[in-house]
Formats: sequence, structure tokens, C-alpha cells
Amino acid sequence: MSSELLVYMSGSFVPLSAANVSIFDSALMYGDMVFEVTRTFGQQPFRLRHHLERLYGSMRYAEIDCGLSLAELEAATYRTIEVNQAQLADGFDFQITHNVSPGVFGYYRSAFPDRPGPTVTISCWPLRARLAEYAPQYEAGVRSVIPSQRAVPSQYIDPKAKNRSRLYYRRADHQAHRVDPEAWAVLLDGNGYIAEGTGSNVFLVHKETLYSPEGRNILRGVTRGFVLELAQTLGIPVQERNLEPYDLLNADEAFFTSTPFGIMPMTNCEGQPVGNGTPGPVTRRLLAGFGEHVGVDLVQQARAAAAAVAGESAMAQDAAGS
Ligand SMILES: Cc1ncc(COP(=O)(O)O)c(C=O)c1O
Repeated sequence: MSSELLVYMSGSFVPLSAANVSIFDSALMYGDMVFEVTRTFGQQPFRLRHHLERLYGSMRYAEIDCGLSLAELEAATYRTIEVNQAQLADGFDFQITHNVSPGVFGYYRSAFPDRPGPTVTISCWPLRARLAEYAPQYEAGVRSVIPSQRAVPSQYIDPKAKNRSRLYYRRADHQAHRVDPEAWAVLLDGNGYIAEGTGSNVFLVHKETLYSPEGRNILRGVTRGFVLELAQTLGIPVQERNLEPYDLLNADEAFFTSTPFGIMPMTNCEGQPVGNGTPGPVTRRLLAGFGEHVGVDLVQQARAAAAAVAGESAMAQDAAGS
């Protein structure tokens, strides 16, 4: 077994450091690459089918044929996990990333006879370092900023297709970070309604009811879908409707959802506390319910990851000093 992670690259496995695409790949030239990020809980992929179904929806939207059926791509995904099992067994979970583009763009293809078809990659990456960063954020919640950069409305480029043309998300992050280097951006759509985060969906709680923006100008997150179901199971009323910054500033609680962290409390927006400025009871109930469903306490896991990372860096410092 190689000590390097292996990446599925259009039908074969290559070491991570050799998993490259051409500078003439359509993904680089036009940004027409679609992707998915799935994570594991207890080393088992969570809602992989949901992610793959969304990936095929994104491919249909971008008119990319990856040359594989969903079942074949799913089998390749499990094979990728299998060949990387030894490297991923660090006691924490990992993410699985699918990237699909049409491959080398049209007239450049003649220079790449060995890359005739679409680019399809499946890679795994340990989540430990990322989880460690979430530990203090689960406890205190994150701050948010509403940048001037707007979400691209679905009638232009539909954000329901999870694609790599992400300049507007980067601009939103840059703008938010100039205000507060640790803040997460909350994007508004063209009408001034709350759309989503730059890698997450947004929820508010007001008078015990859970609200999320309608699934129009957003990526319809797999986690968002799960949290909507979970809330119903827990008897928490749910409404999907247009939300304005005013609603966020007057919410009792707010949180982000996304694959890597599940649910992340948002305790401040634009310098003002959301609710009482601490993760609220509905958010905590949903976080606990999430953990029960997947068999992993998300907050505990992040704490354990933070402790492991801190222990390792202390050992490295000792070694450097000795
Ligand atoms: C723009 C955007 N919105 C929402 C999400 C959350 O989606 P999911 O819950 O499927 O990870 C993501 C995830 O990366 C995202 O990039």
C-alpha cells in the first residue's frame, strides 16, 4: 500500500501528488466543472446517494456526460474509499470529493491523446484538522457579515448546480473578511433576500419556528434537506420563505448548515448578537439530534480533534527543542 492517498482519475488510481488536470481542461478555461463533497460519520459516507443524485443534476445542467452511470460512479467511490482505508484510519472522519468536467477543451485535445474523455476525479481527505477548527466555533458560534457581493440569481447561473465557477463566493468572503477576518459571509440575492453562505445554507429560529430561505437562489444543501427532515421529526415547525437581513437581526437563533460541520451556530451578525449571542436551545437540540442520527457527537468529535492536533503540535515542538 502506498503511503500517499490515491485519487480516482478517470478510471485509474494515481497518487495524490500526480493527480493533475491539464491547463487546457475545460474546468480551467470555462469553470465548467461540477462537484460534490460528502463526508463520513463513523467512516461511513453520509447520504452519498443524495450527493451523487445532485451531482448528476449538476451535470445535466452543465451538459457534461461523465461516461458513467450513477451506480458505476458510486461503486468507484466505494473503491476509492477502500484503497485509501489505511491512510484514513486516524480515528476521525474524512471527506470524499467528486469533480467532473468535460475534460480537455475542444481544439487542444489533439495534444492530449491520453486524455480523450471527461475529467472525473474522486479523492478522500482526512477531516481532523478541519474539525479541530470547528471546536471553538461550535461552543461560541460564528460571527457573520453581509457583504455587498450578491448571490448570482438562478435565472443567470443556477446555484442549484454545484459548480466550480465560484468567484462570487470568493469575493463575498474577501469583503466579509475585510470587516472581520473570522466572519462568515451571508449572501443576499438580487432582491435583497437572504440566499446562503459561501459554502453553507442559512437557518433562523424565531418564536420556536425554524425558517430557511426558499430553495430558489441557493444550492439546496444535502445537510439543509436533512435538517429540515430532522426538525420535523423533533416536532419543530419549519417554514421555507423569503427572509431579509431584518429577520436575521431579529431572530432568536441562527445557524449555518454544510457537509463538513453539519450545523454551526451563528451568534452574531454585522456586529450585533443574534438572540442572546450564544448558541440557542433549538440549535443545540438539532445538533444533538443530528449526532444521534449519525452516531457521532459532532461537538465532542471536534473537541477530540482539537485535542489531537494540539497534542501533535506540542510533540513536534518538543522534538524541535530537543
Ligand atoms: C454555496 C453552498 N451552499 C450550500 C452548501 C451546503 O451544501 P451541503 O449541505 O450539501 O454540503 C454548500 C456546500 O459546500 C455550498 O458550497
